[in-house]
Amino acid sequence: MDEHVMRTYVRQPQVFVSGEGAVLRDAEGRRWLDFLGGIAVSALGHGHAGLAAALRDQAGKLLHVSNLFRHPYTEDVATRLCRLAGMEAVFFANSGAEANECALKLARKAMRLRNTPERTGFVALEGGFHGRTMGALSVTSGAKYREPFGPLVPGVTFVPRDDLRALEQALATRPAALIVEPIQGEGGVHELPHEWQRAARALCDASGTLLIHDEVQCGTGRTGRFLCGSWAGVTPDLVTLAKPLAGGLPMGACLVRAGLEATFVPGDHGSTFAGGPFVLRAAQVLLEELENGLLDNVAARGAQLREGLLALQREFSRVREVRGRGLIVGLRVDGAAELQKQLYANGLVTNCTAGDVIRLLPPYVIRSQDVDEALAILRTTLRAAPTPTPA
Ligand SMILES: Cc1ncc(COP(=O)(O)O)c(C=O)c1O
Repeated sequence: MDEHVMRTYVRQPQVFVSGEGAVLRDAEGRRWLDFLGGIAVSALGHGHAGLAAALRDQAGKLLHVSNLFRHPYTEDVATRLCRLAGMEAVFFANSGAEANECALKLARKAMRLRNTPERTGFVALEGGFHGRTMGALSVTSGAKYREPFGPLVPGVTFVPRDDLRALEQALATRPAALIVEPIQGEGGVHELPHEWQRAARALCDASGTLLIHDEVQCGTGRTGRFLCGSWAGVTPDLVTLAKPLAGGLPMGACLVRAGLEATFVPGDHGSTFAGGPFVLRAAQVLLEELENGLLDNVAARGAQLREGLLALQREFSRVREVRGRGLIVGLRVDGAAELQKQLYANGLVTNCTAGDVIRLLPPYVIRSQDVDEALAILRTTLRAAPTPTPA
């Protein structure tokens, strides 16, 4: 199986061929409830009629023209994104890592324009994940991601996510930017305390450091608001988005606040594929849905899911903690890796992250009965599972 594919993933044997809403089906007709959503991507679920119709139409019209020419969706999607995010301008990318590359490069260029070209460093958090390209990897803390690939970009300082004193000291070295995820996703679904987030904003202001929010996983409506940082009342200087942005097609975006929009000039940055008509047509559908009430469903289903998970925590002592917000949820549980396999065998797709967390990132379109069904599978599986022996 997969003989000519590089072994960068541990893949399940099932071959998924179709889906509708939060349901996935394999080639043998077996049904799964998808509470991973392609790792935070499939916001509109599978087989979304409006998205499919738009893409069928667009595929017959125009797929690609390059960024040297105009097409009908660039300005519309950029305007919607800036309106929703409260930002001024956007650079379109193809992935989360690329959106972060853009943010890091833009921060350095901004420092040059401020006549502080020596400010090239970055500060990032322990437990943070920002992608696997060289720049994004350099601000990602996990040793397992970094170690085989050094030397990475120099001048990166990591600080613990709960230590403001360490952050203050790191910012005193005058880096170009601080990059944080308001909710660390790969790191185990840790929301940064709102007080911490506000203090970090103030420290960035005081030290002239740009604040980058990586909302690749927690943003684009996943918490019930378009930007996750808004729960803490924090506006970053730059924010990066990707995963659900084009409903399942590869797309990233780096947005900047007013005052930074002219940092790049023609030739500074680019991408052959990014911002093409096919992908932006998909993004237009997603953003329309968000503007037309989908965020309310995220909030309602998120609350329902959280309530059900808290009930499971009361029922099963091995369930230690329910983390997250909206539809980015982490269940810290003893024996998480084994439980994730059992859930999959019982028809619920989730994943295990940070060693002890079952992560749930379902589509935004999930219905109340989908949440009930997922909770029922969790309950049955926890009941049937032997209590894990402590590590
Ligand atoms: C917070 C965050 N940033 C960046 C990335 C990288 O995104 P991509 O895999 O699209 O490059 C991820 C991917 O999981 C992520 O969770």
